[in-house]
Parts: sequence; C-alpha cells; structure tokens
Amino acid sequence: MTYVRKEVIGPHTLYLGDCREILPTLGKVGAVVTDPPYGDDAHAGGHRVLSIIGTRRRDRIAAPLSFAPMSDELMQYVADYSAENCNGWALAFCQVEMVGQWRASFECAGARWARGMVWVKPDSSPQLSGDRPAQGVESIALAWCGIGRSKWNGGGKRGVFIMSKHDQGMGHGGAKNEHETQKPVKLMVELIELFTNRSNTILDPFMGSGTTLVACQKLGRVGIGIEIEPKYFDIACRRVEEAMRQPDLFVETPAKPEQLSLMEAAE
Ligand SMILES: C[S@@+](CC[C@H](N)C(=O)[O-])C[C@H]1O[C@@H](n2cnc3c(N)ncnc32)[C@H](O)[C@@H]1O
Repeated sequence: MTYVRKEVIGPHTLYLGDCREILPTLGKVGAVVTDPPYGDDAHAGGHRVLSIIGTRRRDRIAAPLSFAPMSDELMQYVADYSAENCNGWALAFCQVEMVGQWRASFECAGARWARGMVWVKPDSSPQLSGDRPAQGVESIALAWCGIGRSKWNGGGKRGVFIMSKHDQGMGHGGAKNEHETQKPVKLMVELIELFTNRSNTILDPFMGSGTTLVACQKLGRVGIGIEIEPKYFDIACRRVEEAMRQPDLFVETPAKPEQLSLMEAAE
C-alpha cells in the first residue's frame, strides 16, 4: 500500500502518506504548486509566536518546526518528478537562500528554469535576537516543465507578491492559522490564477493544512494533495470540505476528471 489514507472530496483527492511513495502512482498533472519543507536553518531554533493549543496564550519561544527540513535527495526527487510528469509550471516555495539549489535541481531534471519570485510579508515577525535584520520575504522557485514555449496569465507583471501572512477576509475570514507555516489562501489563489488554467489538475505533494487545495476549490481547479502528518491531513480534509460549502467565493465548477484527462492528454 502506497498511502495510509485517501479521501476524495468533491473533485479533489487527498492522500495521507509519503509523497515519494505516492507520486509514482499518479498520472500526469497540469501543474505542481507546492510549499515543501525549507532548509535546516529555516527549520531550527528560530523564535516563533506559538499558540498554546486549547488556550488563548501566544508565546514567543525558540522552537524548531515539527517536520523535517528539506534534504538534497527529496528536492531532486520532486524536481525529477515535476520534469517528467508535469505538463506546465512547477512552483516551489523556499527560503531566499535556497533558490539556487532549486534552480540546479530543476535544471538537472531537465526542466526549464524561469525565475525566482518573491512573496513580501509586511506583517512578518521581527528579529527578536536583534543581531540581524528580520526575514521579510520568502522565495518561490519557478520552472517550466511543459512542451514548447512557456506561457502564463500575467503578461508583463513582476513576480513579486505583497501579502500579509494572515489573509484577513479571504478563505478563513482572518481565523488563526492551523499549520506552523500556513500560506495565505489569497496568495495561493493569485499564483494558481497566474500559472494554471481551468483544465489543469494541480498537485501539491506537501500540502500541510491544504491551502493549495482550498485555492483550487475557489478557482474551479482540480487538486491533488499529499501530506505525511496525520494531524495536518485531517485539517486539510476539513478545510477543503469547508471551502466546498462556501459558494460565495466559488468561481466555476471544476471540470469532470474524465474531461480533464482528455484535456491534459491534449496539452
Ligand atoms: C511547509 S509545510 C506546507 C504548509 C502548507 N502550505 C499550508 O498552507 O498549510 C510542508 C508540509 O510537508 C509535509 N511533508 C514533509 N515531508 C513530506 C513527505 N515526504 N511527503 C508528504 N508530506 C511531507 C510536512 O508534514 C508539512 O506539513
């Protein structure tokens, strides 16, 4: 068995398990849009504002992230998978210092490197140690895995996205984040609109609390998500179900999977 659990919610499929075991069982996808683990230094020891579960307390403590950082092998695995199985764009969030490594991995896999984009976070945490500037941006490595000339929906726009970490008024209405490194729904919606089309199936092999799939639901795209940690998998399933019950933000009904495979085969 390659996965521990599989949930089909509307047009979306969510897997609980290790993406290295599940990816080889999936077919072609239209895009890979993912927020994988970052490097060692981003995961270890930084001061974070943590909510103590079940209380209203929010403490600043030095705590590593609960999941393992990215390894060279896993990065290359994801790049190889994308180059071989994705018919369009591959986007991977990363810390600024890792853009070069992602570029090398994508190029080594045969994908065409496009750009390192940035997400500017006006409400990012201050540097509590006071010994260096705080980190106010994250990067998004972008590679083209499709055939022929790359195309996106942004014309001459810059690859710069300025957005608060807590996306008040979008998706979860300003509710507190449920994952340590949760991305704003609004940011994922913008990226998916710019880099995919309605016929695309979008894969997030590191879905965490499912933000990419929530954005897919809001845009009428079909999403496939994989998460290794059961507690985040459960949150992702719940958030996708909730997104399906919010027709006010719903744009279009996702195309049926049969239609999609035909369309993707034609891409
Ligand atoms: C940066 S977080 C994603 C957060 C997500 N963007 C969100 O908004 O909630 C990366 C996630 O990848 C998961 N992960 C790490 N290694 C994995 C693997 N081999 N297969 C599947 N998931 C994995 C971690 O448990 C973590 O939840």
